[in-house]
Amino acid sequence: MISEIKLGKIISLAKRRGFVYPSSEIYGGLAGTWDYGPLGAEMMYNIKDAWWKKFVASRDDMYGIASSIMMPEQVWVASGHFKHFTDPFEGKKFNTMFKSKAGALKDETTEIYLRPELAQGMFVNFKNIVDSFHPKIPFGIAQIGRCFRNEISPRDFLFRVREFDLMEFEYFIREKDWEKYFEYWRKEMWNWIKEVGIDDKKVHELEVPNNELAHYSKRTIDFQYDFPFGKKELYGLAYRTDHDLKNHKLDYYDEDTKERFIPHVIEPTFGIGRTLLALLDSAYTEDELGGEKRVFLKLKSHIAPVKVAVFPLLKNKSELVKKAKDVYEMIKKDIQPAMFDDDGNIGKRYRRQDEIGTPYCITIDFETLEKNDVTVRDRDTGKQERVKIRELTSYLKNAINI
Ligand code: GAP
Repeated sequence: MISEIKLGKIISLAKRRGFVYPSSEIYGGLAGTWDYGPLGAEMMYNIKDAWWKKFVASRDDMYGIASSIMMPEQVWVASGHFKHFTDPFEGKKFNTMFKSKAGALKDETTEIYLRPELAQGMFVNFKNIVDSFHPKIPFGIAQIGRCFRNEISPRDFLFRVREFDLMEFEYFIREKDWEKYFEYWRKEMWNWIKEVGIDDKKVHELEVPNNELAHYSKRTIDFQYDFPFGKKELYGLAYRTDHDLKNHKLDYYDEDTKERFIPHVIEPTFGIGRTLLALLDSAYTEDELGGEKRVFLKLKSHIAPVKVAVFPLLKNKSELVKKAKDVYEMIKKDIQPAMFDDDGNIGKRYRRQDEIGTPYCITIDFETLEKNDVTVRDRDTGKQERVKIRELTSYLKNAINI
């Protein structure tokens, strides 16, 4: 499919079905901002959840935090962003950080910046984490949160925006180990790409040339994705050396070896909007089922915004509707979100669920009333199977892997 056409189809599906809306649209929109609708928000939380579980909750060496978006000017002077976080514009350097003032009284106002990256939140809390938890090197500090950049020309849907969520961690190591951990996290990033369901054949590593490295980096690999508008950065992996801790005048004391030193840092970073866009692009599929064309999102179950939909075969048969509602209420206790739909004919309902990537649809028909079983339809193959109602929850839990 021609890429531009595919992007148009993805944007229109995202809007029509409640994944992503242009923000402040009734007032003409605001460049570089998008709002996530109910299905997009659900998907975003699924991405965050999966990331937090993999990189934070399941590990003993990672400390998750949630730090402030507003940070004082001193932070950005020390980090180098005050000087270097710029894009060229009309022959000058344009700093893309959003600046504001906190407080009302003139002599008590503080110059603040909305963070353009999460990393400084981790660095300014380095001493707090060490004092509270006494971690041994290597260890990491992670967070998920919103960042702001005054991009000169926001474009390409969710790709380049002015307000976006990031998932990022700083992994503190001894200098001599940087290559080892760079390799380790590179592999883990590839694992994440596969686990979340991004088409890994469309992901390519780019060794960022020395003259294009960020001011803090000694080595960076960009994970690029074949977006419909070209091969562009999806994620980044940087060796930040001891740049940040050194400039914040922080160090680490090893109780065992009695040495004091400045840890070095490996930083994997993941944009959420770009993840969602790559997922929609990877999952968007057109095929033919039963002689009819259809569009479906081949999302992994843990990422799909709706896990299961329940329908009565016919809307105007009250005994079918009642039974379907009972089954829906039963399933919903364990599997969320579930959706009930009795609008239009059954074929249309399947298509609607396919289009939002619901992995399983359940239909209550006349046989259900006699035998207490239902049909379970698989999104990708369209194949249907009869399953006893009493086994349905565990069948679905197993199939969805939750
Ligand atoms: N702390 C490192 C850092 O912030 P970055 O490459 O400047 O590195 C990290 O940004 C990630 O944030 C990118 O890999 C990308 O996924 C995402 N990102 C950056 N700018 C963005 C923008 N304007 N809109 C959406 N996502 C963006």
